[in-house]
Amino acid sequence: MKKVVAVTGGAKGIGKAICERFVNEGYDVIIVDYDDAGAKETQKELKDKGHTVHALKCDISSLDQCKEVAKFVEENYGYLTTLVNNAGISPGGDPKEISLDPKLFDRIMGINVHGPFNMIISLLDLLLKAKEKDQVPSVVNVASTAAFTGGGGSVAYAASKGAVVSMTRSFARFFGDTGLRINSVAPTLIMTPLMAERFKDDPEALQKRKDSVPLGRFMDVSEVADIVYFLNTPSFIHGECITADGGRSLSV
Ligand SMILES: NC(=O)c1ccc[n+]([C@@H]2O[C@H](COP(=O)([O-])OP(=O)(O)OC[C@H]3O[C@@H](n4cnc5c(N)ncnc54)[C@H](O)[C@@H]3O)[C@@H](O)[C@H]2O)c1
Repeated sequence: MKKVVAVTGGAKGIGKAICERFVNEGYDVIIVDYDDAGAKETQKELKDKGHTVHALKCDISSLDQCKEVAKFVEENYGYLTTLVNNAGISPGGDPKEISLDPKLFDRIMGINVHGPFNMIISLLDLLLKAKEKDQVPSVVNVASTAAFTGGGGSVAYAASKGAVVSMTRSFARFFGDTGLRINSVAPTLIMTPLMAERFKDDPEALQKRKDSVPLGRFMDVSEVADIVYFLNTPSFIHGECITADGGRSLSV
């Protein structure tokens, strides 16, 4: 039976690389992104290579919109093999200033924390239906090393990623007996549109960060996709968070 994955934020950056990885493994991919044009562009690129890809416009901070995604999955497949909660934001600016902005705090929490929560609760029943197709349902959440270092450019971002890690562990604890596997990955310093936006006015700060990585380079998006795919592969790993930081935590 066909395997099906929904990837939030699949239009670009890490999410796009995750979509590429899953189509190459034979999955049908559902891109869930509020950037409709970007999602359709990625969809076309992958469809032109012969893959089955859907693009759904959805703001994951809205539970109603996530329920619409579930409706699409129900009507078109009746089950979901994998959910990758990748979409997230990390606005740029002076950390001291933006960390004290309550509206920005709510916005970051709305997308980075409520987003994956909304997607999981909307799609849980469909994930569990994958078991009827002899598949092992799985969720992989994209966190960040900011969860542990307090970095990531703002208090809200670090707190939101800490919540992603603990939400993963808690879902793993309470829902493991349903057969659902759930894990997270905490990467750092990947050159994506999100990073480019954060450092657009400060190339020196960007270089400093690169120099802080013992491996001496930024992570590639495909390396995050590889870890996501590994975590998705059925195994006894459950509730785990894999950190991938090029050894950066060794040097602070
Ligand atoms: N880039 C890095 O260095 C880095 C490091 C650690 C963790 N991360 C995490 O990886 C994930 C992906 O980051 P990226 O660098 O690829 O970002 P990006 O900005 O390049 O791409 C994010 C994608 O998510 C989509 N998106 C954002 N908010 C959304 C919403 N409310 N609803 C639906 N879609 C939404 C965007 O349209 C975009 O397509 C994020 O969760 C980020 O926090 C990134």
